[in-house]
Amino acid sequence: MAFRLIVLALALAASSSLPVSAKYIVPGARWRDTEGNLVNAHAGCVTVDEESGKFFLFGEYKVQGQTEGGGVSVYSSEDLATWEHHGMALSPIEGHPYISKTDIIQRPKVVKSEGTGKFHMWWHADNSTYGELLQGFAQSDNITGPYSFVSATSPLGNWSQDFGMFTDYKDGKSYALYSNGDRKEARDVYLTSYNEDVTALDKVVHRWDKFDLEAPTIIQTEKSYFALMSHKTGYRPNNVVAFRADSLAGPWSQPFIVAPLNTRTFSSQSGFSLRIKGRKKTTYLYLGDQWDSNSLWESRYIWLPVEIDEAKKSLQVVWNDVYDLNVKTGEWAPVKGKTYYGKDATMKGAAFKQEANFGSNGIILTNIYGNDSTVTFSNIEGTGSPQWVSFWYQNIDDMGYGDQPGGSPDRIGGAWQLRRIASVVVNGDTTKVESLYQRDTHKGILLSTPLQLTLKKGRQNTITIGGLSNGVDVKGADIDRIVVYPSEK
Ligand SMILES: *[C@@H]1O[C@H](CO)[C@@H](O)[C@H](O)[C@H]1NC(C)=O
Ligand SMILES: *[C@@H]1O[C@H](CO)[C@@H](O)[C@H](O)[C@H]1NC(C)=O
Ligand SMILES: *[C@@H]1O[C@H](CO)[C@@H](O)[C@H](O)[C@H]1NC(C)=O
Ligand SMILES: *[C@@H]1O[C@H](CO)[C@@H](O)[C@H](O)[C@H]1NC(C)=O
Repeated sequence: MAFRLIVLALALAASSSLPVSAKYIVPGARWRDTEGNLVNAHAGCVTVDEESGKFFLFGEYKVQGQTEGGGVSVYSSEDLATWEHHGMALSPIEGHPYISKTDIIQRPKVVKSEGTGKFHMWWHADNSTYGELLQGFAQSDNITGPYSFVSATSPLGNWSQDFGMFTDYKDGKSYALYSNGDRKEARDVYLTSYNEDVTALDKVVHRWDKFDLEAPTIIQTEKSYFALMSHKTGYRPNNVVAFRADSLAGPWSQPFIVAPLNTRTFSSQSGFSLRIKGRKKTTYLYLGDQWDSNSLWESRYIWLPVEIDEAKKSLQVVWNDVYDLNVKTGEWAPVKGKTYYGKDATMKGAAFKQEANFGSNGIILTNIYGNDSTVTFSNIEGTGSPQWVSFWYQNIDDMGYGDQPGGSPDRIGGAWQLRRIASVVVNGDTTKVESLYQRDTHKGILLSTPLQLTLKKGRQNTITIGGLSNGVDVKGADIDRIVVYPSEK
């Protein structure tokens, strides 16, 4: 047993050193920085540095044993795929009334203030029991920091929980977006303008009254503003909605759901968005978080292109397993992969092919369990170097919870599990077991989750999927198909 664990640990360590530079954007993958560490900047923002044109990612820094109060870390990138870490932009300070390690330092946003010439960081500042509901403010001469704490204040006397920020590209004016908490008198989302220098709030521009939504962000097009927000289901994802308007003061439209129903926005929560005005095209990206409440420090990023139809006044977040974005031209394209279907897979032990009218060829591979009940896909073509493989799955452990506040799925005996973990083994080499996290899905909803694997060159590869422990059981999710993508060049 001890030996097995060591083997598994070594295998996981070996697989964690790739990649150091990336080309494709792969939503839901383990993103690694240029040193091979997990990109650790959650629920934050991407700020474009006007001088260098570089993208800076800010977000909550989370490690095992310290999932709140870890401060704000910062990364830079030229292409939104390769990330270089610049350490902590805002470090927690022991004994500080607002930024100690026991405080809440959430959803940081950074803008350049033309007035002060400094970079201004704002965030949801709170104590550990969310009793203060303030907005924190820190500043720095340098985009990467270190940022110095300035204040933590109530926005125009109100409360502030999930915090967002938006800058209008047409006039450069910045706005705070915040839900004001869960009290009965609250449950609103505010859009409030900053003063010229972005040092304090000015006036309320709009209030989404009693919608009880959170995690707001605004996407601005030539004609429209789309305000995206999630329902309040804690760390569990739900169907994100958007409102549209011609002007920030409104009138705003009815809310509408932005991704295929019951995908729960592809298992993600809204929080930020990015407008990339390239030479040929303007592309809008949804920058969502895929929280993992069992291991928050391993939460993933779901960044996806958004399709907007101004005539229909609609916006859709579109899923892509792997896509290639050119930030200079603004163009993006899905990467084309080769699909291998469940009907051609070989089953072992008690795993079997079950009728499923929503599955490819009317079936899904189920009852995958531990090392004994597995499925194997064969004759897979590989390149000999690392390539992304997406696994399309269904995991209906959650009993179909919805968008209602709290969104509690564990009504029956509290046995609900956030995710299953599958084992993935290439060419029977059990010294290298990859762990594939499979979030819960709604019934009949197929979602995909990726791994980077190294297959042999040629068509003789096998991929075997079994089940690993998620702390409760060793069940793997049901599998529909896998898609193998070309290596990044
Ligand atoms: C957080 O702040 C609220 C309001 O001041 C207070 O009632 C609560 O006790 C504080 N919680 C902690 C852990 O200090
Ligand atoms: C400012 O940030 C840049 C980019 O990370 C870094 O090279 C430079 O040393 C920083 N300057 C100061 C004064 O911290
Ligand atoms: C915050 O605003 C709500 C309405 O959105 C109001 O009912 C509540 O009293 C305000 N809270 C404070 C502390 O001003
Ligand atoms: C399956 O085998 C791997 C080693 O290949 C081991 O780490 C793991 O614990 C085994 N799982 C079960 C459920 O027996």
